[in-house]
Amino acid sequence: MTLPADLAARLSLPLIAAPMTGVSGPDLVAATCRNGVIGSFPTHNAATVELLDEWLAQIGAALSEHPDAAPVAPNLVVHRTNQRLTADLDRLIAHGVELVITSVGSPEPVVDRLHGAGCLVFADVATLRHAERALEAGADGLVLLTAGAGGQTGSANPFAFARAVREHFTGPLMLAGGISDGHALLAAEALGVDLAYMGTGFIATTESLAPEDYRAAVVASSLDDVRQTAQVGGLPANLLAQWLESQLAPTVSAGDFQAERLMNGRTVWSAGHSVSGVHYVCSATEVIERVRLQYRDARNQLLEISCR
Ligand SMILES: Cc1cc2nc3c(=O)[nH]c(=O)nc-3n(C[C@H](O)[C@H](O)[C@H](O)COP(=O)(O)O)c2cc1C
Repeated sequence: MTLPADLAARLSLPLIAAPMTGVSGPDLVAATCRNGVIGSFPTHNAATVELLDEWLAQIGAALSEHPDAAPVAPNLVVHRTNQRLTADLDRLIAHGVELVITSVGSPEPVVDRLHGAGCLVFADVATLRHAERALEAGADGLVLLTAGAGGQTGSANPFAFARAVREHFTGPLMLAGGISDGHALLAAEALGVDLAYMGTGFIATTESLAPEDYRAAVVASSLDDVRQTAQVGGLPANLLAQWLESQLAPTVSAGDFQAERLMNGRTVWSAGHSVSGVHYVCSATEVIERVRLQYRDARNQLLEISCR
């Protein structure tokens, strides 16, 4: 493991509950962190900077009696169109967050201030070029977005991407895309990454902000029901066919990402290929317990194979 030892010691599984627009809020973050899984949420899920302040205080209060809880890792969309970037960054620093995950752009505009406040920065990247640029900008760790991920997705094959980055980078590495059970989690570790990133697997939890019909659609869908399009948010994203087919034909041009649209797009029903692993609505604690048992089984199976 290449994670800082004090952070790794607070994890019960090598896992981050990924940030999700319209899904991750204070209850989900507090529940995952209490269970030893890093909890993340996009700052823009709080409709205003004042509400972000309240959410950070609420999460802090919920975890105050759990000194060994996993870190809270707010997600900042660092795209130049994000008008709230500086104000949100100020709030994260004021609340003393220890880890921030950046997305949709280079972490360069926020790295220095976060490092100055003693905060680690993980950047999500979808190509080797993005990975290089994020490291040049000072990112401490990389989240590799790969094919089949929920939300804005990558298209790289996870085996090839993780191995290519590990050839040159020895720091904290996370793998995102298609991971919703303990077997996939162990497979990610076998590729040499430190942590798996799991989004879709947490949408249908009782603590998520997703409305009931969206959670039900996630439960009812399989990976054959996931459609990739750039025409809703401007960047390639995986969405549920059931939602996409109920909308007027999307009109956004590929490449025309606007942070404002993402912030107003909380009703989009997104999910990745791992939606096939979601069979019922339950608490985040139950999801994590299931992954923990599967992870143990997967390790035992691997031991048996290696002893043959
Ligand atoms: C509904 C939904 C919303 C998402 N919103 C964001 C977001 O606001 N910021 C971000 O960095 N990633 C976002 N993502 C991507 C996730 O953080 C993560 O990369 C992805 O869920 C991992 O793949 P998986 O869904 O197969 O587990 C979103 C994903 C989903 C499913």
